[in-house]
Amino acid sequence: MDQLAEKLSSFKLVPVVVINDAKKAVPLAHALLENGCGCMEITFRTDSAAEAVSAIANGVPEMLVGAGTLLTPAQVVRAKAAGATFGVAPGFDPVVVKAAQENALPFVPGVSTAGEISRALSLGCKFLKFFPAEAAGGVKMLKALMGAFRHTNVRIMPTGGINAANIGEWLKIPEVVACGGSWICESALIKSENWQEVGRRTREALSNLV
Ligand code: 3PG
Repeated sequence: MDQLAEKLSSFKLVPVVVINDAKKAVPLAHALLENGCGCMEITFRTDSAAEAVSAIANGVPEMLVGAGTLLTPAQVVRAKAAGATFGVAPGFDPVVVKAAQENALPFVPGVSTAGEISRALSLGCKFLKFFPAEAAGGVKMLKALMGAFRHTNVRIMPTGGINAANIGEWLKIPEVVACGGSWICESALIKSENWQEVGRRTREALSNLV
């Protein structure tokens, strides 16, 4: 199995984070870690993203921290330099995939069609983000797609519309190793430093998986 897919399969849940204040990154990482989640994705949608990745990579080395929403080769380079251990994108762009490969950053491009999965596999990507998972057809769509791709041993991280109530259904699909979602680290919780609620949501999600 793809090495990153294997690592994330031990967590099953990848909290997607939009952070506006890098000073909140380390306490947030601790809240996740202390409640059973050892990975997270910091999206490169804010000016603080690279600094937040770097703060976690240096201050909380047990946390597997990735960079999300990587849309350009320059962002791939910044994410790697900040200490991200993996990269994620919402879409499939061969230019960004190649940049990640050249920078030795394990990378999960986004796909939602058979054509995109096929092109991603051609570039050697064996671990893909199905995005936006619920809006793109949900569990039924991914199962239908996997009918044609199962033999390739591709692994999938669905993200988009996933929550504590439906994560269990997604994880029943054999190719799904982990699900991404922003509900655990909702922006309002980060802003108000409500680490208790982040912890509660983490435990709630993980308890729905056993
Ligand atoms: C992402 O960046 O992967 C999505 O914004 C997460 O989707 P969600 O907000 O529906 O969890």
